[in-house]
Amino acid sequence: MKKVLIDCDPGIDDALALALAAGSPSLDLVGVTTVGGNVDLSLTTANALALREFLQLGDVPVTPGMAGALLHRTVRADHVHGATGLGDVVLPAPTRGPSPGHAVDFIVETLAAAPGEITLVAIGPLSNVAMAVRREPRVVTWARDIVIMGGSFSRGNHNPAAEFNMLADPEAAAIVFEAGWTVKQMGLDVTLSALVTADVLDRMRPLGRLAELLVPGATSYGVVTAEGGPAIHDACAVAYVLDPSLFTLAPAVVNVETAGTYTRGMTVTDFKATPEGTNALVATALDVKGFWDLMLGAYEGLAAR
Ligand code: BDR
Ligand code: CA
Repeated sequence: MKKVLIDCDPGIDDALALALAAGSPSLDLVGVTTVGGNVDLSLTTANALALREFLQLGDVPVTPGMAGALLHRTVRADHVHGATGLGDVVLPAPTRGPSPGHAVDFIVETLAAAPGEITLVAIGPLSNVAMAVRREPRVVTWARDIVIMGGSFSRGNHNPAAEFNMLADPEAAAIVFEAGWTVKQMGLDVTLSALVTADVLDRMRPLGRLAELLVPGATSYGVVTAEGGPAIHDACAVAYVLDPSLFTLAPAVVNVETAGTYTRGMTVTDFKATPEGTNALVATALDVKGFWDLMLGAYEGLAAR
């Protein structure tokens, strides 16, 4: 079993990433922490709580964390994910609340209790992870691995330079990349090939109750066509933990721009750096067919439970 702690801001693609985790028996989800990101923290937490019950995640703790960025003004993506953060998806209201305490403490204490065992998967702005690094620098050695969805070596999506999770808290992202671990970075370069096409949507439709999350989630997140559709960015980070062979990775030095007038949040990536000096393994290619086989297999297994 691979133990993972998922830090997220649900978010439609966060929801589909949590569904992948829920449908993957080889993953042991030890906790979900929430961060303000796509929408406000109160909504990302409410969505995580609703998803915990809808996806039958049992008593996995859901712990809220940072409401906003470490230094700068709040940036949201409700124009992409809708006012609630889950687009046209309507889930039953959760019957149980969040765990007491703060996500930053939860991350520190959970990693401290099982050094070398738990992979941290961060699929929202990196405010919680950066605060955990600052609060207890040993989290860097306690984490088995750190996998993020964020950034890109080629382009942005929130603006031409910056991907949303990086732009939403560039200082936090800089702290995480500079912390001393090797960040496994699933950026737009690969996540923009993880598209819900018409064929994928056709395989989601018959999945009963689970389809009530997957189908309105996908269709309110983008226009689905035979060749294109919305990118399920965040699921790439969970898929990497499940099957790293789906991804091609290259060592690089990644620096996060925190000062540029037009480039704040840009991940400046140097693939020519010497291996000793690198701080990241950057995903450069994705086996798209293998990715959807993994995703749909997990969803079909979850729907059949
Ligand atoms: C990332 O930004 C958010 O809108 C998504 O949930 C994903 O984590 C993609 O740029
Ligand atoms: Ca996200």
